[in-house]
This record gives sequence, C-alpha cells and structure tokens, in this order.
Amino acid sequence: MNQKPNLLTGIKTTGTPHLGNLAGAIRPAIEASFDPDVHAYYFLADYHALINVWDPEAIARSTLEIAATWLAFGLDPERALLYRQSDIPEILELTWMLTCLTAKGLMNRAHAYKAAVAANLEAGLEEDPDRGITMGLYNYPILMSADILMFKGGLVPVGRDQLQHLEMTRDIAGRFNHHFGEHLILPEALISDESAVIMGLDGRKMSKSYENTIPLFCESKKLRKLIMRIKTDSTPPEEPKDPDTSTIFSLYRAFASAEETAAMAERYRKGIGWGEAKQLLFEHLDAMLAEPRERYAELTAHPEKIEKVLREGAEKARAEAGPYLAELREAVGFKPLG
Ligand code: TRP
Repeated sequence: MNQKPNLLTGIKTTGTPHLGNLAGAIRPAIEASFDPDVHAYYFLADYHALINVWDPEAIARSTLEIAATWLAFGLDPERALLYRQSDIPEILELTWMLTCLTAKGLMNRAHAYKAAVAANLEAGLEEDPDRGITMGLYNYPILMSADILMFKGGLVPVGRDQLQHLEMTRDIAGRFNHHFGEHLILPEALISDESAVIMGLDGRKMSKSYENTIPLFCESKKLRKLIMRIKTDSTPPEEPKDPDTSTIFSLYRAFASAEETAAMAERYRKGIGWGEAKQLLFEHLDAMLAEPRERYAELTAHPEKIEKVLREGAEKARAEAGPYLAELREAVGFKPLG
C-alpha cells in the first residue's frame, strides 16, 4: 500500500491559458509533481467545461491548448497522471451515487448557483429565478466531488473561490462513509498564496471573464503590443514610482528571481518611464517564454502525441478507478446475488 497522499486538481477546458494561469496554477502544480512525497493527478475537466461551453470546436481546441501548455512547461507524465475527465466514465458512476446522497438544500447554497439566481432576480425575473440555469451548473459541486473522491485526492490545490466546493465534498463524503462504511477519503484544500494573484491589462485580477489576459503563447510582437497596452497613470518618467502598486511590476515580480525583483524595485523607486518599464517586462517575459513557446509549437503541430499522453494517463487512471469503484458498488449493495 502506498501511503503517500494524492494531490489532485482539475483544469476546466474553457479558454486559452494565460500568464495568470501559469503563475497561479500551472507552475505550482508542476513543481508539486516533482515532490517525492505525493502522487500527483492532473486532469482536463471537460465534463465541467460542457456546462458553459456548447461549442464542440471550442472544447476540443481548449483541451489541446491546455494539455500542450502543461507539457510545454515541463509536466512529466511519468511524475503526474495527466488525463481527460471524459475518458474516465467511472467518475460519472460515482457522481450518481453521490447525487443520491446529496441534500438538495446543500446545492441551493452553492455560490455559483446563488449568483445565477441573484442575477435573474436583479434582471426582474421574480417569476422565474432559475431561468437559464442548467442542472449541470446546479450539480457542479457533486461532479467535482466525484473527481476528487474517485482518486482519493487527499490534497486539492485550488483557488479561494473553490473552497466551498471542497467543504461540500467533505460533507458528501462524510455522509457516504456514515451510511456505507469508511470508503471515501475526505480531502483538504490547499489554498494558493494570494500574492500569486496576477493583475491583468486593466489592473484588475487577470481573468478570462474580464478579458484582460495576456495569453502564454502568442508571437513576440503580439506579446509586446499587449504589454504596451497595460494601463498606467500619467506620472512623468523621472518621478519615483511605487513598485507595489504597479501592474507592470507585479507581472515582472511573478516571473523573476528575488534578486531581479529587488533590482527592478530599486529602478522604480529612482524613477523609470512607464514605456521603459514595459519594455523591460516584455524582454523578461519574452525570454522566459521562448523555450516553452518552441515546445508548444512542436506539440500542437503533432496533436497525436498529446492524444497518446492523455490516453496513457486515462489508462493508468482507470486501472485505479475501476477496482475502487467496484468496492464502492459493493458498499452500496450492488453485488452478485449468489
Ligand atoms: N472547479 C474547478 C475550477 O473551476 C475545476 C475543477 C473541476 C476541479 N474538478 C475539480 C478542481 C476537482 C479541483 C478538483 O477551477
């Protein structure tokens, strides 16, 4: 029996990966996968993506881009299982078992569902507050629980916005164990450091919903153009700048060493023009991205190589999920009659 905890996280296959994803999720997850004390499981949450994205090409493209990105930044599939959620039908079977145990009231309290209802009420839809809300959105936390519990995910690195889902998972798993015996492992959330929040072009948190992102893989020219668009104030070049309130500096810091960061902070305090600050940020990011960019181009030119990695990951994952699901089926009473 291996006693190492399983570290597991899902990445929704919506959109194109950006610098914020690199600092907040991709880089820490890849580093964690090299920790000899954990088993890492990373999966492309395409069942979750289907909740918001009803565009087959967009789902497929995002799956390819995200898988290629993780591999381009050095994820080693021998160290971390990388799989596509929809390749693991066992997750859905567990989802149903958990659905049967989950109190409807618990789902009524989910933040995402409540926010959707609140938006409808705000729009004057008192007579139909559930307008446009699918059962997929409503059941989201149960599917996420199954993702985690299926692979005994003891440690789950997530952003703070996902904390409620982790609490729900513990709640649902506790109920299963109470009724059917101690089969499920209650997960702990590993909340990422708030200082890892990356600011976007407009100075708000970098997020695809704000459309203020810098994609990881674009040509140098485009990267430079985007960086030049970062919002700044009109302080004259020679005047001292506070690095801690600057979006440009925060992006530099997120991807520079401690020494580089200290040296750059000094230049800000002495006075630096925003144009020059942007140029230095561009040069730094462009150099950092050069190698992954090449690997990414090579991978996306050969999608069959990525497909192979994902299939092998799914095969290994199913080899674990299958026997475990058999145990859970038996626990709930699905067993041979004689
Ligand atoms: N809900 C997560 C998000 O939006 C994605 C996700 C799906 C996930 N299943 C998961 C994260 C399981 C951790 C564990 O970011």
